[in-house]
Amino acid sequence: MEEKIDVKEAHILDIDKFLEIEKVSFKDPWSRSMFLSELEDRNRRIYYKALINEEVAGFIGLWFIVDECHIVNIAVHPDFRNKGVAKSLVQRAVMEGGIRGVNSFTLEVRAGNEEAIKLYEGLGFMKAGYRKNYYEKEREDGIIMWLVIDEEKNNG
Ligand SMILES: CC(C)(COP(=O)(O)OP(=O)(O)OC[C@H]1O[C@@H](n2cnc3c(N)ncnc32)[C@H](O)[C@@H]1OP(=O)(O)O)[C@@H](O)C(=O)NCCC(=O)NCCS
Repeated sequence: MEEKIDVKEAHILDIDKFLEIEKVSFKDPWSRSMFLSELEDRNRRIYYKALINEEVAGFIGLWFIVDECHIVNIAVHPDFRNKGVAKSLVQRAVMEGGIRGVNSFTLEVRAGNEEAIKLYEGLGFMKAGYRKNYYEKEREDGIIMWLVIDEEKNNG
C-alpha cells in the first residue's frame, strides 16, 4: 500500500531530525548552526519537511533570489527512500515558486549522484553546466541544473 506523504513548512524545532537525516545522506553534512541560520531567515528561505505517519522522512531547503529559486539542500532518510518523498518535496517547491512569481529553479549536484540527477531530470530539470571540483570533501565536479518554468519571461 502506498504511504501518504504530507509536506509541511519546517521550523527550528525540526533541526534535530534534519541533522540526523543530513548525517546519513551527505559526505559533507551541514552543521546545526548552518541549519539555524537557514531556518531563521523566513523571508528569503523556506524549508519544507515531508512526513510519513507523522515521522520526518526528508526535507528540502530553498532560497528565493529575485525570480529564481535555488534548491540548496534536499535529503530523504534511507528508511524512506524510493517512495516518492523527494519528488513530493521538489513539487512543493515548484508550487511555492509559482506563488512567488519564480520562473526558474536551479541547483548543484555531485556529478556521480545518479539518483538525484534522475530525480531532477524526471521533474524536467536540465543539465546546464559543470563546476570543476566544486565539492571539496571527496573532491568531485558539480553539475548545475535548471528548470525553467516560463521560457518567454526568462528570455525577454
Ligand atoms: C536523491 C534523494 C533525495 C532521492 O530521494 P527519494 O525520496 O528516494 O526519491 P523519490 O522516491 O522521490 O524518487 C524520485 C525519482 O528519483 C529517481 N531515483 C530515486 N532513487 C533512485 C535510485 N536509487 N536509483 C535511480 N533513480 C532514483 C527516480 O527517477 C525516481 O523516480 P521514479 O520513482 O519515478 O523512478 C535521496 O536518495 C537522498 O536523500 N540522497 C542523499 C542526499 C542527496 O544526494 N541529495 C541530493 C543532493 S543534490
